[in-house]
Amino acid sequence: MDYRNQIINGDCQEALQQIPDNSVDLIFTSPPYADQRKSTYGGVHPNEYVDWFVPISAHLLRVLKPSGTFILNIKEKVIEGERSTYVMELILTMRRQGWLWTEEFIWHKKNCYPGKWPNRFRDAWERLLQFNKSRKFAMYQEEVMVPMGNWANSRLKNLSQTDKTRDNSKVGSGFGKNVSNWLERDRAYPTNVLHLATECSNKNHSAAFPEELPEWFIKLFTQTNDVVLDPFMGSGTTVMVANRMARRSIGIEIVPEYCEMVETQLQQQAVQLAIFKDSRAIDWEHLVRFNSAA
Ligand SMILES: C[S@@+](CC[C@H](N)C(=O)[O-])C[C@H]1O[C@@H](n2cnc3c(N)ncnc32)[C@H](O)[C@@H]1O
Repeated sequence: MDYRNQIINGDCQEALQQIPDNSVDLIFTSPPYADQRKSTYGGVHPNEYVDWFVPISAHLLRVLKPSGTFILNIKEKVIEGERSTYVMELILTMRRQGWLWTEEFIWHKKNCYPGKWPNRFRDAWERLLQFNKSRKFAMYQEEVMVPMGNWANSRLKNLSQTDKTRDNSKVGSGFGKNVSNWLERDRAYPTNVLHLATECSNKNHSAAFPEELPEWFIKLFTQTNDVVLDPFMGSGTTVMVANRMARRSIGIEIVPEYCEMVETQLQQQAVQLAIFKDSRAIDWEHLVRFNSAA
């Protein structure tokens, strides 16, 4: 039996130990934020966050294919009026661990909570940190192109002489552009800022992200049958979207109730599903053969 989706109920630090080296194309995850949501599924103290995460990121580094990408959705919290620095410390530590910190995407939350604080404004964005094992990784940029929109109508209508030739940067950066190259095109490459609303429908999880978030990165970094891993699966947004997009998925989650919820939802989608209550029982040899067969 070839399972498209694997759900593992357990601590990801333990479960990841069983996953073979270089077997995953995309890791997309949102770990518990430091000290937040303690009431629902536990939290990690900000001062201990890096030490807690680093053994997990060591396994992620090992299981990711050299062509793969790791996207980490994270945002530092405010403690005693100051932004905490654990995300920055985590980036530095992960670089020492062997990761390349390739890019930082911003998720602009179009419908962030209203409110007023004496010393800051509403928090309307989160980080999506991109890490890679190598400088040459799989990326399918055409899959996320966006319509040219009004910019094309106004900017490309009356081209100057400079626009019709390569215009080298005035600051000597070596970059240049030829605006006329964009004539006749109806789609452009997007920026690294994603404008998406937060998840509002009831997913029975206090920190579910919107489906469009994993969907965009799955399109950008994977192809059909590639393997997508979410080691902090929660309500299963990543695995559900990966399944809908004909990718194979592995979701790890420590809370059994969330695993059961995702199991029910995936079964409603009539998918090939394997559920493991104990990661030691997984036939990883089979998974490797299955993954390398694609
Ligand atoms: C921020 S939530 C993820 C939400 C998810 N992206 C979604 O859309 O529902 C983090 C999840 O990690 C789980 N978790 C916390 N520690 C874990 C661990 N050591 N191993 C596996 N899962 C863990 C929590 O129970 C929680 O459901």
